[in-house]
Amino acid sequence: AITVNPAARGAKIDDTMYGVFFEDINWAADGGLYAELVQNRSFEYSTADNRAYTPLTSWTVDGTAQVVNDAGRLNERNRNYLSLGAGSAVTNAGYNTGVHVEEGKKYDFSVWARADRRTALTVTLQDADGTLAEARRVAVKGGWAKYRVSFKATRTSSDGRLTVASADAVALDEVSLFPRDTYKGHRNGLRKDLAEKIAALKPGFVRFPGGCLVNTGSMQDYSEASGWERKRSYQWKDTIGPVEQRATNANFWGYNQSYGLGYYEYFQFSEDIGAMPLPVVPALVTGCGQNKATDDEALLQRHIQDTLDLIEFANGPVTSTWGKKRAQMGHPKPFHLTHLGVGNEENLPNEFFARFQKFRAAIEAKYPDIQVISNSGPDDTGATFDTAWKLNREADVDMVDEHYYNSPQWFLQNNDRYDSYDRGGPKVFLGEYASQGNAFKNALSEAAFMTGLERNADIVKLASYAPLLANEDYVQWRPDMIWFNNHASWNSASYETQKLFMNNVGDRVVPSTATGTPALTGPITGAVGLSTWATTAAYDDVSVTSADGSSLFTDDFGQDASKWNHTGAGSWSVQDGQYVQSDVAAENTMVTAGDTAWHDYDLKVKATKKSGK
Ligand code: AHR
Repeated sequence: AITVNPAARGAKIDDTMYGVFFEDINWAADGGLYAELVQNRSFEYSTADNRAYTPLTSWTVDGTAQVVNDAGRLNERNRNYLSLGAGSAVTNAGYNTGVHVEEGKKYDFSVWARADRRTALTVTLQDADGTLAEARRVAVKGGWAKYRVSFKATRTSSDGRLTVASADAVALDEVSLFPRDTYKGHRNGLRKDLAEKIAALKPGFVRFPGGCLVNTGSMQDYSEASGWERKRSYQWKDTIGPVEQRATNANFWGYNQSYGLGYYEYFQFSEDIGAMPLPVVPALVTGCGQNKATDDEALLQRHIQDTLDLIEFANGPVTSTWGKKRAQMGHPKPFHLTHLGVGNEENLPNEFFARFQKFRAAIEAKYPDIQVISNSGPDDTGATFDTAWKLNREADVDMVDEHYYNSPQWFLQNNDRYDSYDRGGPKVFLGEYASQGNAFKNALSEAAFMTGLERNADIVKLASYAPLLANEDYVQWRPDMIWFNNHASWNSASYETQKLFMNNVGDRVVPSTATGTPALTGPITGAVGLSTWATTAAYDDVSVTSADGSSLFTDDFGQDASKWNHTGAGSWSVQDGQYVQSDVAAENTMVTAGDTAWHDYDLKVKATKKSGK
């Protein structure tokens, strides 16, 4: 029974309570939300991003062409360019099955080109069935200059190819094809269907750009002096300004990031959808499976100064150094940054906190109104978590970011997680959570859990499901909220839960009490009693069977095995080419309809395929 007390005034629920967490994982940016249709547009893919890459990945050459890195380059940050021979052509394969165009819609092509002798480029869009738009010709002569033409698609196709052919020798760089019809019509904008799906959630905030992504190379120097060719840390300053001057970088998740979707675009998108922007900067202590901290004080101070500059970029007047750059990019008004996260899932709480405190002191001294968010490491419990929380509590930190990915029944069992949190301590930002799976039971367990977040809205201030996006052909992490390929997108059941809560944020908690244990019956039995979820995280295509051999369920929620360790109870072995975990067991009792007890199962967890590149 539920007893509601409508007369009592419960905690206020902030409009910003539920938001989204955008990370460039699963090709969420390039080949995803960023509307660019050309893959590897600046010929910068390299083995530093992914062992399988070359500067010509996604391109095919007809005739002669080579990628060149010499003093004739477009600029210092855009190292490579293509030297295309006379009478030759290059073709780009786009993402997934190709370049997607829709009949009647316009597409803007641009290229930087340099030619000693006057030449004519012929730009075509075609698929196996023929042309997709009338071919365009571009006359090129002289030093590097940007050339533009536009197409109107005569047919719809998701298998298109973009070809640039040249009569005479020419140097090409930053070859780009954009749909005119981007979200809100911005140039260098976002893919409309994906942006609209996110906007329809009505998120209170957008956390970006990661996640583990912000740990990319965060121990390394990133100065111009160290060269632009190497793997560098994620730095927001690399992601603004003209796109051809944004040095591409290796992405933590094993691919290249063009930074075409950069900090300006993140702020713009947040503003467009009425959400509070919430960036996360690296803290110079690696998390995400790595345990390193740097004592390079000069590097730390540079990161701290960059963070101050970021706040100026977001909020500063147009007369300030970084506010002026924002204005030059088209947004003289401030972006109203109020919250900023420092660090993500650091495994070394003491080392992290020492550095966090330096960031915090510098930010609070210059911008006392900015809320600086700390974190509690990668787990929902345990020694690292406890130490992090102790340090945060003792230092009276404003807010602590928690992350956890657990089984559906963990979410059902932990609805009361925040009931006992210290009301005098830091507030909670639940920056990442999801139950492991993309089925209805997952969405249901998340909804049940979110009622517990909302009941504790006095202490839980922000919450975001993770990850947000996944391109079905380039997946590093499951489950995900919104799925897509190069021409379609679709929502998970968890999306509907998030939308329900975000579209209906209450003003206040209405205090209530519940008595009696809800009966667990029917199909959810497949998820009841699993104590092995944490150990399955490194595998794709997992099937879970009870000891008598009957299948409880199968799922493919695995992660990239190359990045995650096998931890947890039980032992692992390889049988018949399969990874098998055993010894997890307790009793072997199936749940029957009407049975309200929790049970452990004697389980074998099989991964039929090892995930990874
Ligand atoms: O959301 C996917 C990843 O999960 C994030 O990058 C990281 O913070 C967490 O481990």
